[in-house]
Amino acid sequence: MLPAMTASTPPNRTNAWLALEQHAQQTAKLHARELFEQDPTRFARMHVELSGLLFDYSKHGVVDETLRLLMALARERGVEEARAAMFAGEPINVTEQREVLHTALRASTDEGLRVDGALVFPLVQTELRKLRGLSDRLGRGELRGHTGKPITDIVNIGIGGSDLGPVMVTEALRPYWRPGLRAHFVSNIDDADLSHVLLDVQAETTLFLVASKTFTTDETLTNARSAREWLLRELGAGKEAVAKHFFALSTNVNGVVDFGIDPANMLEFWDWVGGRYSLWSAIGASIALVLGMDHFESLLAGAADVDAHFRAAPLEANIPVLMALLGVFHTNFRGCATHAVLPYDQHLHRFPAYLQQADMESNGKHGRKNGDEVVGYETGPVVWGEPGTNGQHAFYQLLHQGTRVVPADFLAAARSHYPLGQHHDKLIANFFAQSEALMRGRTLAEATAELTAEGLSPEDVRRLAPHKVFSGNRPSSTFLYDLLDPRTLGRLVALYEHKIFVQGVIWDVNSFDQMGVELGKQLAKAILPKLEGDAPVTGHDASTTALIERYRALRA
Ligand code: F6P
Repeated sequence: MLPAMTASTPPNRTNAWLALEQHAQQTAKLHARELFEQDPTRFARMHVELSGLLFDYSKHGVVDETLRLLMALARERGVEEARAAMFAGEPINVTEQREVLHTALRASTDEGLRVDGALVFPLVQTELRKLRGLSDRLGRGELRGHTGKPITDIVNIGIGGSDLGPVMVTEALRPYWRPGLRAHFVSNIDDADLSHVLLDVQAETTLFLVASKTFTTDETLTNARSAREWLLRELGAGKEAVAKHFFALSTNVNGVVDFGIDPANMLEFWDWVGGRYSLWSAIGASIALVLGMDHFESLLAGAADVDAHFRAAPLEANIPVLMALLGVFHTNFRGCATHAVLPYDQHLHRFPAYLQQADMESNGKHGRKNGDEVVGYETGPVVWGEPGTNGQHAFYQLLHQGTRVVPADFLAAARSHYPLGQHHDKLIANFFAQSEALMRGRTLAEATAELTAEGLSPEDVRRLAPHKVFSGNRPSSTFLYDLLDPRTLGRLVALYEHKIFVQGVIWDVNSFDQMGVELGKQLAKAILPKLEGDAPVTGHDASTTALIERYRALRA
């Protein structure tokens, strides 16, 4: 067992935490702009490179002592031991008593890991071979529908981790799509979601992937049933057509069979893969089909690069550890409640949404791992974001001059997939400018000088200058890489996965369950039968009762 992980000392009573509280007070007035002015080596000392990916954390307004104390916190909280336990396949998901082995899905060598006696590596390799077989058949045009026409459209039906990872990756890697293939994603139980996709595809040439770890998720099964009805109706065929148009991606063979999909059409994964960490597993089948297996394997290799870095690099030069600790500093010692993810890359437009689940479902928790105590400090921040430059014309006003400090991640590639005039240079100029502006700010003297130079009257200068002041000192990290290719994307995603893991260890929460989503599901089940008929609505508060009654009246 892990002494630090089970230690009863609350994280906020450790020596390092208490020292950080003091340090945060003492350094509250430090401004990053001055730190840069005082230390020309600041960038050189505060960045890490990993296989061409540059991580710059010098704009955080922290000093060497901050980092030293944060590293001490990581060590006191047992981050190194926890990391070893995860990679060794210990059941660190304590509530569900499961191993956490998404890293094994991208491992290139057999480390002899076993779960319940079964060797993990051969299991993974067998499923990868199956996936390659399917993907290669599709690539050769050999995957054909019931009427014999080649499949052209892949529709992934899944939600949460069974949707967000695949949709984020396929969108991010659009330049790599196989010609002639299209990918669609249906997640919402709102009938608009499935209906729009069905309007856009032909039954004869469509393959549905029903993606669900548990194969019990109501949204996914409801959508999958409706898709199946539509398919059989469109084809005028019997159930035998299902085998040519439906595959299941799941851990639950019985559920798949009950639904009516032959296990031969199932790609399997295992309980030790968390839903929000599952894009590397069979859940990523839509990625492998649409991009081809070679690109899917590059994605896995990118994640494996980061696994190796996370395992071996000293904490001081370990990118996910630095990301996590800086986040902890802002969350717990600077009172920041949210974290913005700002990709300057249209292909990453679903990346913030993907990270919302990865981060908020993992660390949005108030209970300590031992279950007996509620944490006495903040845990996971609200994660949000939009691609730049769009966000600049929407919410950046608050980032620059709002009363809340929002730590941010800026991400961009040096090269575009579609070079078009000066677009990319302009994009990148904005990318650099925004983090610089957030860090530097603008003083009253600077604003006054600028307005005066513009020729405004002294009276107008006095009136306007205070409104042009930016406090600056707003922390951000920058990720700069060559090109958003599959391997780079794999690296980026794995960096965030491990960041989330480290923060969970610091905060002493179990990052691998999601019990907070259950009550709503339970209540929805109880409400559904009450939406029909006119029996008195009972068992709810006055607001919910009135809303149910109004809904009944409106739909009648
Ligand atoms: O409701 C939350 C959740 O359990 C997520 O953790 C998960 O990714 C999603 O639902 C979908 O679950 P499944 O893959 O089992 O359908």
